[in-house]
Amino acid sequence: MEDDAALRVPPTHEIIIVPPPEHHGRHALLQQCIQVRIDVFVTEQRFPLEVEVDEHDPEATHWLLRLTPSNKPIGTIRAHKVEHTSGAYYKLARLVVLKEYRHYKFGRNLVLALHNWAKDNARNSGVIDFVKIVCHSQAARADSAGAVAFYRKLGYEEEGNLFEEDGEPHQKMVARLSLSE
Ligand SMILES: CC(C)(COP(=O)(O)OP(=O)(O)OC[C@H]1O[C@@H](n2cnc3c(N)ncnc32)[C@H](O)[C@@H]1OP(=O)(O)O)[C@@H](O)C(=O)NCCC(=O)NCCS
Repeated sequence: MEDDAALRVPPTHEIIIVPPPEHHGRHALLQQCIQVRIDVFVTEQRFPLEVEVDEHDPEATHWLLRLTPSNKPIGTIRAHKVEHTSGAYYKLARLVVLKEYRHYKFGRNLVLALHNWAKDNARNSGVIDFVKIVCHSQAARADSAGAVAFYRKLGYEEEGNLFEEDGEPHQKMVARLSLSE
């Protein structure tokens, strides 16, 4: 069958950043992000519901991808800053796009939105060279290709060995984004 990926026109949509903690509107939009995560990670991929919402959600920065004009939520991603003795980095996590909306570059655009935010945030903290982003990518398993190849296309490289997280194999991946671009 002919590959029609180049012909796919995405439905009209927008990516919004969920307001920070204590700001009006955060709760409702964060709940929408979490519901999309549950639809994918719990219902589709069978990760345990108990681990879906964690200690980082209240303070993290979240993005919501939604259709327009319906405002139907179809994707999300989150980031939080980690202060480490070897230097600060940003942790990318909870990236999902609903199954019926995949392969429109929505996942890529969510990651790029996070990258732009992390670069701005690092510059505002006085960083001048590069910003480091870390994620724990799902690795390939019998019923899923994982996401390592997806992250590689966005400049991420594997670091270390496979490890188990939430009962499934994961791979640490790191991107270093130049701040001079
Ligand atoms: C991973 C995910 C977010 C990708 O979203 P998407 O919108 O379908 O991806 P995009 O359309 O932006 O794909 C961008 C590129 O990556 C490729 N790609 C997408 N998913 C991929 C995968 N799982 N493995 C390898 N390559 C992938 C696409 O073919 C495209 O390549 P191209 O630029 O050469 O054409 C989506 O498949 C998803 O939600 N999966 C389930 C949840 C999940 O695994 N999240 C990641 C947790 S670590």
